[in-house]
Amino acid sequence: MATPHNTAERGDYAPVCLLPGDPLRARYIAENYLDGARQVNAVRNCLGYTGTYKGVPVSVQASGMGIPSLSIYVNELVRFYGVKRIIRPGSAGGVGRDVHIRDIVLAQGSSTDSNVAAGALGPQIHYAPLADFGLLDRAYHIACDRGLPVKVGDVFAADRFYNDDIDNGLLADYGVLAVEMESAGLYLLGARLGFEALSILSVSDMIVGEGEALTAEERASSLDDMIALSLETAIA
Ligand code: ADE
Repeated sequence: MATPHNTAERGDYAPVCLLPGDPLRARYIAENYLDGARQVNAVRNCLGYTGTYKGVPVSVQASGMGIPSLSIYVNELVRFYGVKRIIRPGSAGGVGRDVHIRDIVLAQGSSTDSNVAAGALGPQIHYAPLADFGLLDRAYHIACDRGLPVKVGDVFAADRFYNDDIDNGLLADYGVLAVEMESAGLYLLGARLGFEALSILSVSDMIVGEGEALTAEERASSLDDMIALSLETAIA
C-alpha cells in the first residue's frame, strides 16, 4: 500500500484536487464533471478519482468528516502525492444574520474549537487559519460573474456536529457566517505544508434564524453550483 489510507501510486493524483467530505459526492463529481475519470483509491471507501476538467488534470478525493479525518488525507495527498492545490466543496450550517439557505460561503478564514492549531503552535498563540488569497479572489469573481449568491468571511470549524453547549448566536455576533467541521484544519495544513487551500461551502441548513428548508431539487442544484465553482476555481 502506498500510504496507510491510499492505494494509489505516486503520480495517480493531479496537482489540483477537490476534497469533499462525502465519498459519494467524490464519486458524483468524478462521474458527472470529469472526463476520463478513473478511481485511484477506495481504502475505507474514502473514494479518490483522477480525470480532466476542460482538459486540465484534476483529482477528487473524499476526506471524511472532521479535522482529524481530513488531516490524514491532506497530509498524504500533499506529502506523498505532491498535490499543490486543494479546494473543499462542502456543506455548512448558516449562522450569519444575512446568510440564507443555498448561499455559497467562501471561507476567508476559519475559527475553531478544535485543538489542532494550539497543538501545532502552542497554547499562547491563537492562530487564524486563512484561505489562499489567490484562490479566494478567483472564486469570488467567478461566483459573481455567474450570479451566484456568494458571501465571503469567517466560518467556524466545529469539533462536534451535535453540540448543546455552543452559542451560535455569539458566533454570528462576531461575523461568523457558517458552521462546518473541516476548514480550520485544511487552512492550517495549507500554511504548514505550503499548498493552496480554499473551502467553498453550500449552506444546506440554518442553525440560527429562519428554519428554511431545501427541496431535493434545490439542494441538488445548489450542490452543482458549488461543484462547478470549485472546478472553475481549481483550474483557473
Ligand atoms: N455541515 C452542514 N451543516 C452543518 C452543521 N449544522 N453543523 C456542522 N457542520 C455542518
